[in-house]
Amino acid sequence: MTVRNLFLLPGDGIGPEAMGEVRKIIAYMNKAKNAGFVTDEGLVGGCAYDAHGAAISEEDMGKALAADAVLFGAVGGPKWDSVPYEVRPEAGLLRLRKDLQLFANLRPAICYPALASASSLKPELVDGLDILIIRELTGGVYFGEPKEIIDLGNGQKRGIDTQVYDTYEIERIAGVAFELARTRNNRVCSMEKRNVMKSGVLWNQVVTATHKEKYADVQLEHMLADAGGMQLVRQPKQFDVIVTDNLFGDMLSDVAAMLTGSLGMLPSASLGAPDAKTGKRKALYEPVHGSAPDIAGKGIANPIAMIASFAMCLRYSFGLVADADALEKAIANVLDSGIRTGDIMSAGSRQVGTVEMGDAILAEFKALSA
Ligand code: IPM
Ligand code: MG
Repeated sequence: MTVRNLFLLPGDGIGPEAMGEVRKIIAYMNKAKNAGFVTDEGLVGGCAYDAHGAAISEEDMGKALAADAVLFGAVGGPKWDSVPYEVRPEAGLLRLRKDLQLFANLRPAICYPALASASSLKPELVDGLDILIIRELTGGVYFGEPKEIIDLGNGQKRGIDTQVYDTYEIERIAGVAFELARTRNNRVCSMEKRNVMKSGVLWNQVVTATHKEKYADVQLEHMLADAGGMQLVRQPKQFDVIVTDNLFGDMLSDVAAMLTGSLGMLPSASLGAPDAKTGKRKALYEPVHGSAPDIAGKGIANPIAMIASFAMCLRYSFGLVADADALEKAIANVLDSGIRTGDIMSAGSRQVGTVEMGDAILAEFKALSA
């Protein structure tokens, strides 16, 4: 039987609650479909700091590196606001991304018809929205050196972050965007700030060259990232695939998340390059929402982004395309049936908690799998 190793890192805040709903789906797939998932679990973020004094332990890093896929919940919370910068909860996530070399972050923003009215935009602008943001995840200002605060000695300090991109980093993320565009509507919009940033000039040149060399069949457009943000809220359905750097991708994907009704709806996949021998990619799947400390532990968090992240795991790490399709369909059907968590609640719907939403999706997934 195939063995599929999953390493679970529920993390802080609503992470564990959301992960609990994925655990049920894993158990069902093992029992009913012989999926062969073997799970292990570790600590990341504030809970890891409390236990080990680090945002992730070396042992758990080792397990993450060895797993077929990592499922990640969320990290952070006010409890750890004053811990040293190097061991702040987010450092655990950034280390995972860097050490596993997960350079390609896929953030699909899909507006389920049932949720069009939950968006802050007019329903007709978002109904049927289906865009894919490809965010570069291991470069740019997140990791560039120098990154420091220096004392200027005159009572002033200077904070420095460095935005840096090499050709190969832009080439490979552009390649992912073009490849995925071919499986969708064949359009890529690349976003940077070439009007003020040298890294933006290079980004634009390399994306253009990569397109010309290997992907001329795909339609390519360039947009300045600020204009891109504006277009995302003006006419979001004009986009198919958006490719952009680490920092712009962070911001633009939060914008895109709200188009879909709630931050609680957006899944993501972070992928490495295919291994030369096995063809397998290192991968981590995480909801785009954070740890939401204000609602943590209350049983009201929306588990959909976490469950949809698991669907991406089935698709991209294990090639279980039919199961991924069924799980995504189960989410859509449950929303159609009028069941909602508080964050996506609207008049006439029935409000449920985390567990009830997870149960409803699992029941629908079972029905679709039968
Ligand atoms: C995200 C988050 C992270 C980021 C934080 C938690 C470090 O906002 O994944 O979008 O900035 O990348
Ligand atoms: Mg973010």
